[in-house]
Amino acid sequence: TVGKSTNIRWHDCPIGQDGRQKLLNQKGCVVWITGLSGSGKSTLACALSHGLHSRGHLTYVLDGDNLRHGLNRDLCFKAEDRAENIRRVGEVAKLFADAGLICIACLISPFRSDRNACRSLLPNSFIEVFLNIPLEVCEARDPKGLYKLARTGKIKGFTGIDDPYEPPSDCEIVIQCKAGDCPSPKSMADQVISYLE
Ligand code: PPS
Repeated sequence: TVGKSTNIRWHDCPIGQDGRQKLLNQKGCVVWITGLSGSGKSTLACALSHGLHSRGHLTYVLDGDNLRHGLNRDLCFKAEDRAENIRRVGEVAKLFADAGLICIACLISPFRSDRNACRSLLPNSFIEVFLNIPLEVCEARDPKGLYKLARTGKIKGFTGIDDPYEPPSDCEIVIQCKAGDCPSPKSMADQVISYLE
């Protein structure tokens, strides 16, 4: 009833999420990291994955930049493509959570409505992390030189420069710099792990 396919019917298997979660001794969920380019989303995702892995948890990272090399290679950065990007990753993340994994998704995901649509796919198991790093800091880091290209008009529609970013209004975790000092990857990961615990 939701898509274009007709005459389809859901089929369940006897081994479900509960069985898989018992086997893995963890609860499947999605940690969704949102923030500007250069805010450290991938760095946090890797540090978090490492921290959880070393505590015996099975994780999987879905990185927006990486997924655009394959699953999402047909999408560009206009709003409707970003929405489709987030929708697909939300669906994939839901499968990973159903598999019993702690799925860490890190995408700019600039639109609140797209992130909220993912949240509604995952009642009680969607943890939204806002990496609230100021634009000036992200731009000064400019790890891929993209802000420079955006400022000189060589990239159009770059998030934070000439494309919008809507910060979460109500999310589970906010990570930010204090007195100009931005948290280290490990301290960001520890903040998320404390929440998960
Ligand atoms: S989105 O907005 O969630 O669909 O974006 P995402 O899939 O996370 O991909 C973001 C990475 O794409 C690169 N890039 C751009 N980002 C923003 N705006 C524009 N126009 C753009 N063009 C290319 C950039 O490397 C982003 O990676 P991060 O890791 O965020 O820097």
